[in-house]
Amino acid sequence: MDIHNPTYVPGHGLLKGKSVLITAAAGAGIGFAAAKKCIEEGCRGIVISDIHAGRLEQSIQKLKEETGFDKVYGQIGNVAVEDDVQTLINFAEDKLQGVDVLINNAGLGTTKALIDMEDSEWNKVIDVTLNGTMRMTRYMLKIMKARGNGGVIVNNASVLGWRAQKEQSHYAAAKAGVMALTRCAALEAAEFGVRINAVSPSLAVHPMLKKSAPAELLAELEGREAYGRGAEVWEVANIMVFLASDYSSYLTGEIISCSSQRA
Ligand SMILES: NC(=O)c1ccc[n+]([C@@H]2O[C@H](COP(=O)([O-])OP(=O)(O)OC[C@H]3O[C@@H](n4cnc5c(N)ncnc54)[C@H](O)[C@@H]3O)[C@@H](O)[C@H]2O)c1
Repeated sequence: MDIHNPTYVPGHGLLKGKSVLITAAAGAGIGFAAAKKCIEEGCRGIVISDIHAGRLEQSIQKLKEETGFDKVYGQIGNVAVEDDVQTLINFAEDKLQGVDVLINNAGLGTTKALIDMEDSEWNKVIDVTLNGTMRMTRYMLKIMKARGNGGVIVNNASVLGWRAQKEQSHYAAAKAGVMALTRCAALEAAEFGVRINAVSPSLAVHPMLKKSAPAELLAELEGREAYGRGAEVWEVANIMVFLASDYSSYLTGEIISCSSQRA
C-alpha cells in the first residue's frame, strides 16, 4: 500500500450477519463512505438516515447501484429532535429485525470566533453534534439492553476534541463531549454487553468540505499531517468498520484517532 496514494480496500466480510444503522449518511463524506463499506463488509441490511430528504433518496439508489445490495433502507431524521431519533431507531429495529451496529456520524460545524458567537450558534452545534449523539445512544441502549444480545455503537468524534483551533470552540467543545460521552456510556453499557467506541478523524477531505472550508485552511491542515494529505473518507470508514466488527471485541470506551499525526 502506497500511503500517499492509498488503494481502496475491498471487503473482507467483517460485518457478516450484522445489521447497521447510520446517521448523516447522505452527504459526500464519511457517512456515505461508511454505509458503502458496511455493505461491502457483508452486513445483512442497513438503514441510512439524514436530515436532507432529497439526498437521502439519491444515496439509497447510489448505494444499491454501486454495491448491487438491495437491503438498503432510508428514514429521514434530525438527530437534534428526540421524536425523530425514536422514530428512526424504531424504523431500523423493525426493518432490520434488530439493530446490531449503530454508527453516530451526524455532526455540525461552523467557523466563528468566540467573542462573536451568539448563543443560538453555540447551541445549534452542541445540539446536533453532542446532544444528537447522546439522544441516539440513549435510545439505542435502552433497546439493546432490553433485547439482551449485545450490540455495538460507533461515534464520530474529531481531533478537535483534543486539539485547539481558532474559531472552533463550539465544535471542539461538542467533540470533546462526544469523547467523554463515549467513555462514560461504555462503562454503563458493558454491564449489558454493548460496546461503545469512537473514531476521531483529523481531516477527511471530500467535495462538500472543499466547498465550505477556505482553501488556505485546508492546505494548512493537510500540511500538519505526516502524509501531507487528509484521509480519504473510506480510510475513516475502515476504522469505523473495525470498531463495529468482532475484531475489536476487547475495546470499549476508546477513542481511535484516524490521523497521520497525533493531537
Ligand atoms: N470531514 C472531516 O474532515 C471531519 C473531521 C473530523 C470529524 N468529522 C466528523 O465526521 C462526521 C461526518 O462529517 P463529514 O464532513 O464527513 O460529512 P458527512 O457528509 O458524512 O455528513 C454531513 C451530513 O450530515 C447531515 N446532517 C447535518 N445535520 C444533521 C442532523 N441534525 N441530523 C441528521 N443529519 C444531519 C447533512 O445533511 C449531510 O448529509 C461529522 O460528525 C464530523 O464532525 C469530519
